[in-house]
Amino acid sequence: MKHFSIAIDGPAGAGKSTIAKKIAKELNFIYVDTGAMYRAMALYFIRNNIDASDKEKIKNNINLVDISIEYIDGEQQIFLNGENVSRLIRTEEVGKMASAVSVYPDVRLKLVELQRSLASKANVVMDGRDIGTYVLPNADLKIYLTASTKERARRRFLELQEKGIMADIDVIEKDIIDRDYRDMNRDFAPLKQAEDAIVVDSSDMTIDEVKDTIIQYFKKII
Ligand code: C5P
Repeated sequence: MKHFSIAIDGPAGAGKSTIAKKIAKELNFIYVDTGAMYRAMALYFIRNNIDASDKEKIKNNINLVDISIEYIDGEQQIFLNGENVSRLIRTEEVGKMASAVSVYPDVRLKLVELQRSLASKANVVMDGRDIGTYVLPNADLKIYLTASTKERARRRFLELQEKGIMADIDVIEKDIIDRDYRDMNRDFAPLKQAEDAIVVDSSDMTIDEVKDTIIQYFKKII
């Protein structure tokens, strides 16, 4: 049976996961958050005191890491060696480690296998950095969702403020720039716009405007 796939790629903080979740809900597709997989892997390395620069140790430990996902009440839950770590991975520390270890092909290949397997079994909205270019090159719709660094930093700042976490907006912006650089300049499956992707710049759009725009594009192709 043919399954539909919508790939949403773009830099950190462009709103990918919020938008992808909403689209999945509206179309009754499964939302696959690939960033959560890199974060769960990163959590394993943090817990085991493995340095992000220790390529050999990372390579030798990959077979000890089992990442799986389940859907509970429609929400993706991520499991690291059988433990639900969905909440534990949402820290700056884990995000930084994920960004650092995601440059390694061994790390990526393990997770890409899981991502492709999910897309082969269901209609999916999958977000990440390399979905349209590498994971699902035949996705039915590819979106490159972006926003200015200033706007992405502002959104992240407000998000942290809502959680009662103090932050410096300039530090956040610098972190975003560093993360973009690493994602765009790694050798293996870097973040870049697929040739057949549609660019959506969310800087001056509301969440619902972005969601509706992407759903309109999808309706045109089915
Ligand atoms: O999207 P999120 O911030 O949760 O992703 C964490 C990190 O995982 C990103 O900074 C990026 O470096 C990496 N990542 C990736 N490829 C993906 C998804 C995430 O390299 N498909």
